[in-house]
Amino acid sequence: MLNGRDRQLRQITWDAYSQLSLPDKAPYLNNGRRPYHVLLAQQFDRQTLDELGMLATSIRRIAKSKAGMQFLQDLLCHKRAMLYFTQPSSRTFLSFYAACQIIGLSPAEVRDSATSSEMKGEAPEDTLRTFSSYFDLLVMRTPKPGFAERIAWLLSNTERPVPIINAGSGKDQHPTQALLDIYTLQRSFEHLGGIENKNVVFVGDLGRGRTVRSLSCLLTLYPGVKQYFVAPSELQIGQDVLDQLDAADVDYEVSYDFENVIPETDAIYMTRLQDEWDKGENDATKSDNSQYFLKPEHLDKMKNTAVIMHPLPRRDEIDSRIDVDPRAVYWRQVRNGMWIRVALMASIFGKVADEIFNFYELNM
Ligand code: NCD
Repeated sequence: MLNGRDRQLRQITWDAYSQLSLPDKAPYLNNGRRPYHVLLAQQFDRQTLDELGMLATSIRRIAKSKAGMQFLQDLLCHKRAMLYFTQPSSRTFLSFYAACQIIGLSPAEVRDSATSSEMKGEAPEDTLRTFSSYFDLLVMRTPKPGFAERIAWLLSNTERPVPIINAGSGKDQHPTQALLDIYTLQRSFEHLGGIENKNVVFVGDLGRGRTVRSLSCLLTLYPGVKQYFVAPSELQIGQDVLDQLDAADVDYEVSYDFENVIPETDAIYMTRLQDEWDKGENDATKSDNSQYFLKPEHLDKMKNTAVIMHPLPRRDEIDSRIDVDPRAVYWRQVRNGMWIRVALMASIFGKVADEIFNFYELNM
């Protein structure tokens, strides 16, 4: 798995790497255009997103038959993956677990660092280095921002580097959620001219929602997309995200009026209050935010072609009566996540992605 790009991560000090801007980190993480470590939304370009979407669709179709599934499960049957999830997760964890099974990777799991030698005072870096010795891929979810990057750098500077996938880090990044959101948008707008020129509104806890931060970045790769950020002022999107949009010359609007934005939008991306980050001092998040909830009476105001998305889990921000509306795609989003994660793992083990495309061309 050692490759040209990864050798560059080997050659840079941690201090120098951590001072780079997010876009400048990208070449250290990718292997040519394909991802090697998957840590940041900023490491993807448009062509890679298109290729991942095509790969996910090929995999989805191949997996429908027993012969197809057998082909897929043979691809990485000689590799093992560790799912290191020390922050609550069942959806993303199981999505990766199922994705591993589809492509033949044997998954193992650590769900609680309290069961490891970290309890004996071992540095988490040492724990991860030990674990990595047994595996060929690490998938990590941690509450610590930047920890997955740190481990990627650390392992790249050992004799046995393995790729790392960030399955959610702190409040900052959730790149694989952004990939599944993009795949869902690609599929939803397939016959409507693609994602280009669509209006996307993010609603809810935008200040602490890592899915919003990552998806907002990927959407900058689609010309003509306008982004709206609708939230109470305490939960509004961070200035760093807006700076990123300014730098990419992307049209956006920060708004406090959900009802007015609804008729304009092609995709409504709802999020829940992320109050697990509260330490009691942020009373604003305890106030009534129901004006930022999507309710059945809003449906008539929405475009017929619009989609309603949510990374899940949801609380009250989408009324469950909306689930039957054909524009509600959040359950489809979940399943898309499994397929795009298979595609991502195939892409990391590059030759495997080519084998899938070849199989698809010959057999489908
Ligand atoms: C999200 C997360 O963990 O950031 N969940 C997920 O992975 N689908 C969103 C959330 O927890 O609200």
